[in-house]
Amino acid sequence: MMRIGAEELQERRAAGLSRVLITGGTGFLGSHIAAALLKAGCRVTILARSSKRLPARDRVGRLADWFGLEPAARERLTVAEGDILDPGWVVEAMNGTPALGRVDEIVHCASDTSFSERKRPEVEAANIGGLRNVLDLAARSACSFFHHVSTAFVAGARDGLCREEWVESGPFTNVYEETKARGEIQARDICRREGIRLSVYRPSIVYGDSRTGRTLRFNALYYPVKAAVLLRDIYASDIRERGGAKAAAMGVRTDPDGRVHLPIRIEVGPQGGLNLVPIDHCVEVFMALREECLGGGIFHIANSRPKRIEDIVGYAERYFGIRGIEACGAEAFETRPRNALERLYDSHLEAYRPYMQDLRTYEIRNSAPALAKRGLACPEFNEDVFRRCMAFAVEAGWGTRLFPA
Ligand SMILES: NC(=O)c1ccc[n+]([C@@H]2O[C@H](COP(=O)([O-])OP(=O)(O)OC[C@H]3O[C@@H](n4cnc5c(N)ncnc54)[C@H](OP(=O)(O)O)[C@@H]3O)[C@@H](O)[C@H]2O)c1
Repeated sequence: MMRIGAEELQERRAAGLSRVLITGGTGFLGSHIAAALLKAGCRVTILARSSKRLPARDRVGRLADWFGLEPAARERLTVAEGDILDPGWVVEAMNGTPALGRVDEIVHCASDTSFSERKRPEVEAANIGGLRNVLDLAARSACSFFHHVSTAFVAGARDGLCREEWVESGPFTNVYEETKARGEIQARDICRREGIRLSVYRPSIVYGDSRTGRTLRFNALYYPVKAAVLLRDIYASDIRERGGAKAAAMGVRTDPDGRVHLPIRIEVGPQGGLNLVPIDHCVEVFMALREECLGGGIFHIANSRPKRIEDIVGYAERYFGIRGIEACGAEAFETRPRNALERLYDSHLEAYRPYMQDLRTYEIRNSAPALAKRGLACPEFNEDVFRRCMAFAVEAGWGTRLFPA
């Protein structure tokens, strides 16, 4: 397959001829990247699956509404239905969607993001087998640039500086990290063999838009906050409506100022912190790197100022009228074992714990020149940003009211 060079790709982009195929375009990062590319004038094909309730096309249409896409941008958008797990879809998709034969670039965002070892077969299938099928499509089409969305957490359990280098082996914290690292190597080997340029993007934890608070996903940052709010509501209503015996048994009380006291210690230790990047910055960096770094590379999209857990706890307590939550080291639990409330809260938190102990530095050397040229810097996750994000989360019912029924 003849592939065009960087200069010709630039010309096709500038002339509005270049076509980008996006996998995972119904997901968080993929939909934002698709919207940004469409707004920038690209022709975009989204690979999407139908859900139980909605055909693929309607799912994408609903997202186009959410992003407020103009009619002209929608005209540049096509939907190809398919499942990356199905090896037959490559041929089928190319025959059934003639535009795919002329794909210049693929942005691969589809992934199984579960951390659970129980889900290993599904996670491996999507992050290794599914990726392999997408790379096959790249090899058979005219694709000259593969944009692979990975994660900063391919760094696994390493300490210290995490470099923008290939990660050939573990230790990894979970099956997600392991399969994402193996996926990168697979993409590297196939793209080298096929003469396809490759960029690997490694975001850390992505949350909502730092300016508006809007988001399509309520995991990672949101989940532990939502769990605390849920406990606040359960015990506050027990106190208000049923005499408060259950709350008292858990050590929960309402203080005179109305704030709910939840005696919860979160075990995080001295490394207690989260590396948070807002989706607006993540997408701006992706767009800048796609345009500026035509040779490809490995790029962290991370925050050089990770946020301490104590700060986030403070923001959450003030915003949601809670007190009593503390970040502690493991030794605190040796002298006083977990109470019932802590055990309950911990059961919600377990999968996220490695990402709540992350004050590591993610090198951002490769993207630095492009970021400097565009004047891009990762916004600080401060209390104002937290409040905007949580206001949106509450309004959207933590995701349940995102789309009208
Ligand atoms: N969110 C973060 O904080 C974060 C941070 C770092 C890296 N990342 C990386 O960013 C990428 C996207 O993550 P995300 O947060 O946007 O996840 P997400 O919202 O869960 O989206 C995953 C997407 O993959 C699609 N998908 C999964 N299996 C598929 C299959 N078999 N066939 C076709 N499509 C399939 C999903 O389609 P359906 O809608 O049909 O399920 C969905 O569109 C992943 O590579 C992830 O590792 C995310």
